Amino acid sequence: MQRLQDRVAVVTGAGSGIGLATARRFAEEGAQVVCVDIDAEAGVKAAGEVGGLFVEADVTREDDVERMFATAYETYGSVDVAFNNAGISPPDDDSILETGLDAWRRVQEVNLTSVYLCCKHAIPYMRRQGKGSIINTASFVAVMGSATSQISYTASKGGVLAMSRELGVQFAREGVRVNALCPGPVNTPLLQELFAKDPERAQRRLVHVPLGRFAEASEIAAAVAFLASDDSSFITASQFLVDGGISGAYVTPL
Ligand SMILES: NC(=O)c1ccc[n+]([C@@H]2O[C@H](COP(=O)([O-])OP(=O)(O)OC[C@H]3O[C@@H](n4cnc5c(N)ncnc54)[C@H](O)[C@@H]3O)[C@@H](O)[C@H]2O)c1
Repeated sequence: MQRLQDRVAVVTGAGSGIGLATARRFAEEGAQVVCVDIDAEAGVKAAGEVGGLFVEADVTREDDVERMFATAYETYGSVDVAFNNAGISPPDDDSILETGLDAWRRVQEVNLTSVYLCCKHAIPYMRRQGKGSIINTASFVAVMGSATSQISYTASKGGVLAMSRELGVQFAREGVRVNALCPGPVNTPLLQELFAKDPERAQRRLVHVPLGRFAEASEIAAAVAFLASDDSSFITASQFLVDGGISGAYVTPL
């Protein structure tokens, strides 16, 4: 499929996990991919692999975010897709009873303020073109409560979901679509580490997923490519769940 032929797509957090898988998928579908990451080594590698451009940026910094979209525009002539995906989930963000203000604020900055900045600076290009697709990475925890809490993470993703909905509505008639992607748990190095270290905690999570496994990053990337492409032309302001059924489940199969 070449649904993104001649489109210019900016991917934040392109150096790893969901961002990397999406950069690969976007390139396969014909897009020019701008790979953004704070980790230069990983970002350069990703851009090299997909024949794209690497921009080193910290998405919590407004000047960095402005520069990355300007670079995409100056290099390739448009900004058609913004996948605002960079995020963190550090161990000091835990139960509200233990999580300090520093950890709270850091997670809000990287997961939520960054999405505000990326939308703020991507939308003007898209309005001028009369077309664009923004996909913001939220999470299934934006719509479900978890007893294994990461309180700032959950609150940040709820913010991403509400902001995406509002922007999707506000700019709908100008051709700019904005959707919140809500992945279920994904098989990343982070989760693999958790499985190895604490099988009981891991099993507590897995039991809730009707499909009985975690997602592969490529499965999330497939959904992002759909949302980026004209195949999703009537989808905006949505909470787009790619969660193996977790948010719909009461009792799961044995
Ligand atoms: N992995 C999961 O199970 C899961 C589930 C739901 C949602 N998510 C969300 O998906 C997104 C990607 O997660 P992942 O699992 O691929 O993570 P990951 O850690 O594999 O990749 C995140 C990338 O973002 C980059 N990054 C971090 N802070 C940055 C900053 N300030 N500026 C620029 N780049 C920065 C990192 O260097 C890294 O390359 C995150 O928003 C995460 O919250 C993940």
